[in-house]
Amino acid sequence: MILPFRAFAALATTVSVLFGSWGYALPQDDPLGLLLLVNKEHRAPDVQPVLVLPDVTPTKPAYAENIYMRPEAAAALEALFQAAQEAGYTLYATSGYRSYATQKAIYERRTGEIGTARASMLVAEPGHSEHQTGLAMDIDGESTLYDGLEESFGASPEGIWVAENAHRFGFIIRYKRGWEEITGYAYEPWHLRYVGVEHATAIAQLNIPLEWYVDLLQEARAQELSSGTQAADTP
Ligand code: DAL
Ligand code: ZN
Repeated sequence: MILPFRAFAALATTVSVLFGSWGYALPQDDPLGLLLLVNKEHRAPDVQPVLVLPDVTPTKPAYAENIYMRPEAAAALEALFQAAQEAGYTLYATSGYRSYATQKAIYERRTGEIGTARASMLVAEPGHSEHQTGLAMDIDGESTLYDGLEESFGASPEGIWVAENAHRFGFIIRYKRGWEEITGYAYEPWHLRYVGVEHATAIAQLNIPLEWYVDLLQEARAQELSSGTQAADTP
């Protein structure tokens, strides 16, 4: 997926118009901000996030201790699950916050099972998982509940509803099909990442990975700064 420079610049202008008056904190300005970028290049901040237990149903009773999130993400998840229920879809929470040690254990188990090359497309190395931020949740739906986290969730009624509505509650589908070379991970329709309603809505409309969106905001800010400088320099 390659975006020509001109298209990128045009998108940056659009994003700049969208966000010019709202203000936003880029990841380098606020490492705990909602646009925090965590991937194979960027580590999760080495700060323990504040965590709460969202009032949602875990996929299995044993997962009840695995679904903590940052408070703003937990409240949004509750609203998302409630709206889904009102629309006739039952959702479950499988995996939220993970400590470094938990991510390490998952990574080592998967590499042992399927080898490093395949595991590294499915599980983040310890230190590099969005789950360490408290802003991510893996979810499942009633109709795929006994499959584990599988691609089939994306094509299930619950998965389709989530893909169409998650942005209204501030979540994005972080690892879409076709984005593997940008995100570094296989399609994960179950992995939701909280970024707040405004950014999630813009990302859903643009239909681009978070990596590109953060680049666009940086480009938009650079454009703002350079036009501000030019205006100030003009007598
Ligand atoms: N499955 C995602 C990439 C993680 O381990 O964070
Ligand atoms: Zn996940």
